[in-house]
Amino acid sequence: MSAFRDDLLAGKTAFIAGGTSGINLGIAKRFAELGAKVAVAGRNPDKAAKAAEEIGRGARGYSCDVRDYAATRTVMEQVVEAFGRLDIVISGAAGNFLAPALGMSANAFRTVVDIDLDGTFNVFRGCYDLLQKPGASLIAITAPQAVNPMMLQIHACAAKAGINQVIRVLAMEWGPDGVRVNGISPGPIAGTEGMARLSPDEEASARSKGRIALRRWGEIGEVAESAVFLCSESAAYVTGTILDCDGGSQLGDAGGQGLG
Ligand code: COA
Repeated sequence: MSAFRDDLLAGKTAFIAGGTSGINLGIAKRFAELGAKVAVAGRNPDKAAKAAEEIGRGARGYSCDVRDYAATRTVMEQVVEAFGRLDIVISGAAGNFLAPALGMSANAFRTVVDIDLDGTFNVFRGCYDLLQKPGASLIAITAPQAVNPMMLQIHACAAKAGINQVIRVLAMEWGPDGVRVNGISPGPIAGTEGMARLSPDEEASARSKGRIALRRWGEIGEVAESAVFLCSESAAYVTGTILDCDGGSQLGDAGGQGLG
């Protein structure tokens, strides 16, 4: 159940990098429902077109690889040409796979760091002069791996830790112009490619839920609500923060074992 009024984002334009699937597509849909004009971008042009159709309400799909600064910048210019302004930017493109460090080539490590960390820099650096200032809101999708080291994910841990610092530094540098920069760190969210990769069978899923304070995985729509909050006037004094939308899963093992 949402606490936000239906026209909350009317008059705003949002660009969502990685918005062609998963959590980011959920955010895009919610923004559109609340009246924003929405543009999503992903690597695959067909997927981008399909996502735009699914979002409806005049949403547009663009194709670019966030690892390519010039291509990403060009797409954001096209968004402003199409919609006339840019108020909200989400950097959500990410890549991940499970592998031990010794099973990972230098290129494999670099690939994930490039998509996640360099991609976030490219999206945010590239959008800055296109933003409505004051009042613009930027959100990077980070992850618990930024803070909690996880085996088999050295690339994602390094990349997400970097993203958290990108958020904080940009919040400091761009705050004086009225640009807020925040992050969302989703915990385990049902129906995402990430969870399919990280928790592939029922036994692993049950173990994962048993360790979460709220005893369940989150919903994509619940992460979208966090994004709406951070972009809304209700968060006007919130910048440089990372919002954990994770059911308390980072509080430690909530499996009820105690010390015994
Ligand atoms: N184990 C070890 N190495 C792996 C791997 C795995 N499971 N998957 C990919 N790699 C390596 C590749 O072998 C390659 O290294 P090499 O050139 O030394 O052989 C390197 O990673 C790049 O792979 P490539 O497939 O060329 O990159 P890509 O840009 O096409 O794909 C990925 C990016 C690897 C992140 C891919 O998993 C992807 O696109 N995922 C979709 C998005 C996603 O992961 N979403 C979940 C987000 S939580």
